[in-house]
Amino acid sequence: MTQRRNKRANDPASSAVAVIGAGYVGLPTAATLAHFGHRVVLAERDAPRLAALRSGVMPIVEAGLNELVAEGVEAGNLHFTASATEAVLGAEFVFLCVPTPQGDDGSADLSYVEAAAKEIGPHLGHRAIVVNKSTVPVGSATLVEQVIGRPDIRVVSNPEFLREGSAVRDSLHPDRLVVGADDAEAAALVGNLFASTGAPLIVTDATTSETIKYASNAFLATKLSYVNAVAGLCEEVGADVRDVMLGMGYDKRIGFEFLRPGPGWGGSCLPKDTRALLHIAEAAGYDFSLLAGAIASNEQQLARVVAKVEAACGGALEGATVAVWGLTFKANTDDRRDSPSLQVAHRLAALGATVRAFDPTVAVAVDVAMDVAMDVDAGAGADAVPSDLAGLSLCADPFEAATGARVLAVLTEWDEFRWLDLSRVLSVMAVPSIVDARNLLDPAAVRRMGFAYTGIGRR
Ligand code: NAD
Ligand code: UGA
Repeated sequence: MTQRRNKRANDPASSAVAVIGAGYVGLPTAATLAHFGHRVVLAERDAPRLAALRSGVMPIVEAGLNELVAEGVEAGNLHFTASATEAVLGAEFVFLCVPTPQGDDGSADLSYVEAAAKEIGPHLGHRAIVVNKSTVPVGSATLVEQVIGRPDIRVVSNPEFLREGSAVRDSLHPDRLVVGADDAEAAALVGNLFASTGAPLIVTDATTSETIKYASNAFLATKLSYVNAVAGLCEEVGADVRDVMLGMGYDKRIGFEFLRPGPGWGGSCLPKDTRALLHIAEAAGYDFSLLAGAIASNEQQLARVVAKVEAACGGALEGATVAVWGLTFKANTDDRRDSPSLQVAHRLAALGATVRAFDPTVAVAVDVAMDVAMDVDAGAGADAVPSDLAGLSLCADPFEAATGARVLAVLTEWDEFRWLDLSRVLSVMAVPSIVDARNLLDPAAVRRMGFAYTGIGRR
């Protein structure tokens, strides 16, 4: 490791970096920094995940990640270790990319951040800079400084804005970079690590930086709740939400991004981050009723989709067979954490339906890579069903899922569903009926084929 650290020691643009946590954020971050020429050691304490990385297998589904990681390893710029303390030896910058899950009261659980800070504190080099890339509440930079308890160590907030499914592209070409610290020099040094992105750099204080992250995610969530509410209105007044969004999106102040109605917003971040921001606001004595409304509206959206499937089943799910296409929280990822699609599937099962489900990544996870899948029960065998999928009848392909179904619910917008042979689907279903919770299919074309069709806000 010492040898590697020295390799480009004379190159002013090349820094020694440690990244703690090889998840959806840590892994693309480490690979991106290596791509920019920095010497990166990535620490991951989960043994199967680390083993997968070491053998060149990506533990998550993310376009372009394999190639970027391989490039870093081959260039000698990216190394893996099980130990955070080993990773930080000689590092000038240490990125914390550990989980901040939702705590029991809705606030962000900082135990992983605190544990990592405590673990690395005594081993950090003199004047090393610790970077909070995990999404953390206001005051966390100060908290990490206190946990480390060393006057020479500076902590900088550098929130991450990547999206799963396009994490590599987002990391290489971010819309903006935000760095915040009470020590402006430390913040600028962290910004410099990403200089080759050419992205706008906002240098601010830690409190503002931490607020920017939550305010951004909460804004996106609120935008989606609004879109889903407009879709509901469209159904009542007989408008078509697709054209409504087209008409709105051309207004540059609104834009086309994040205008797709769906079964509600989910994933590992928007739900927990909106609740954490609400908690921050409550603690500060601020009534953020707008955000509370967006969260409540999202819960209603999920119930509305379940009700649509129930109605398509003739009003009763008990004993009905329902096909479900898509379980991940959105397309192009294998992540099912807080997935609205999965929640809808489970609600249908809880109401008595037999749910026959297919998802492109579940087939991969069950058959091939169970040992590196993230949601496996602790101690489960290599071919066990992940605990979050218990109660669902998992199918090998979309046609198998549709066989004998009373209704087909399209819950995740995988591109492959768009181009399937629907005449074959029609021939295997008990009743040709589709609830398209992502507005993926063309209603007119599907109806012409003989299906009953219900979308979200579509005629
Ligand atoms: P993740 O669960 O996918 O990955 C975290 C990894 O950290 C895990 O592999 C875990 O084993 C490892 N880890 C935890 N403690 C460790 C330690 N002490 N030493 C070594 N490894 C350790 O989580 P994630 O989705 O990457 O999210 C990480 C943080 O980034 C969260 O705060 C999240 O809110 C934020 N974030 C996530 C995304 C996203 O798209 N997932 C985007 C922006 C920000
Ligand atoms: C989100 C943010 O977009 C990222 O900027 C942020 O870094 C990240 O959270 C985070 O902090 O973890 P991500 O969770 O990957 O990224 O997913 P999004 O693309 O934002 O989608 C979130 C949810 O909204 C999904 O359930 C998705 O299906 C839904 N969505 C998104 C819609 O229903 N319609 C849309 O038009 C867009």
